[in-house]
Amino acid sequence: MSETTPTPTKRAVVQHGAGPAEVLAVEEVPRPVPLPTEVLVRVHAAGVNPVDWKVRAGGGGVARLIDLSAFVPGWDVAGIVEEVGFGVTTLTPGDRVYGMPWFPRPAGAYAEYVTAPSRQFARMPASADFATAAAVPLAGLTAWQALVDTAHLQAGQRVVVTAAAGGVGHLAVQFAHHLGAHVIAVASGRHHDWLRALGADETVDHTREPFEKVIRDADVVIDLLGDGVDLTSTRALATLRPGGLLVAVPGGVSPALAAAAEATGRRVSAFLVEPDGPALAAIAALIDAGAVRVEVAATLPLAEAAAAHRLGETNRTRGKIVLTVDA
Ligand SMILES: NC(=O)c1ccc[n+]([C@@H]2O[C@H](COP(=O)([O-])OP(=O)(O)OC[C@H]3O[C@@H](n4cnc5c(N)ncnc54)[C@H](OP(=O)(O)O)[C@@H]3O)[C@@H](O)[C@H]2O)c1
Repeated sequence: MSETTPTPTKRAVVQHGAGPAEVLAVEEVPRPVPLPTEVLVRVHAAGVNPVDWKVRAGGGGVARLIDLSAFVPGWDVAGIVEEVGFGVTTLTPGDRVYGMPWFPRPAGAYAEYVTAPSRQFARMPASADFATAAAVPLAGLTAWQALVDTAHLQAGQRVVVTAAAGGVGHLAVQFAHHLGAHVIAVASGRHHDWLRALGADETVDHTREPFEKVIRDADVVIDLLGDGVDLTSTRALATLRPGGLLVAVPGGVSPALAAAAEATGRRVSAFLVEPDGPALAAIAALIDAGAVRVEVAATLPLAEAAAAHRLGETNRTRGKIVLTVDA
């Protein structure tokens, strides 16, 4: 009888079907080996994002792409490269990396190991611990790709950020400030001093007044609420100058929103974040230079993924929620 090497496994949070936070439970699952051009990363922390609980519950566009019968949630990874596949020349075992691999395909970040294409990672900010680094990729790439690649934001332009206190919003405020824009942050009043310290030039309290009544002549709106929340995208059109651009981050652009923009001479863009190693390298440099601060609201162990989702689903978090994975 010949002896066979046991298939390596990893601890991972797994859900079997859509449902409430309680569907998340830790299990042992197979650990994939890296193919050529891929790396195996030992995960030390995993960021938690709204898409995680939307997919978990079976809602939203990304959930339609995913088989939830045995799904490991999560896209945000910070960890150490353990093994590199053939052909990888830019990373070596021992490198501390962060990334948002595979999105919108499953990445399985709520686990001890992730295998993914090497260039979907970048070196972590040298000044950051794993929890802080894991808070960045999905939210940071969303803010970066919306402001830089989609809106081509220029110094001196006026930019509005809705849900400015959240994971994406607080990074968007800082990136826009760094780019030299005039930043108008929409958030409840308890966040205003903090957002001004991060670089907001003006703050508007959405709990006291409709933001579209007080903001005018914006060049760009980064809308992080969407028409699913009090028709926010449609209302935000009124804050733009003629020809200004609304980036509708959640929910996309409905025919009604497109028609409203057309009728008023404003532009709208749908948006979906993509894996982007070079942008993560640029963001890491800003963090290391002290130009961007990352807010981590709560850090929970992997086994408390359900509690992390419940906390996120309050929709009141300042900054990010992160899961730590024991070494
Ligand atoms: N399309 C994409 O590629 C993409 C990528 C990333 C994120 N998203 C989506 O973008 C949205 C934001 O993501 P996130 O990670 O930043 O979320 P988050 O961190 O969970 O956002 C929480 C924040 O939302 C604020 N908020 C809630 N209701 C508000 C309102 N009516 N007006 C203003 N602020 C409000 C809260 O602040 P207050 O206390 O001020 O209310 C809280 O700080 C989510 O829907 C997410 O799914 C889409």
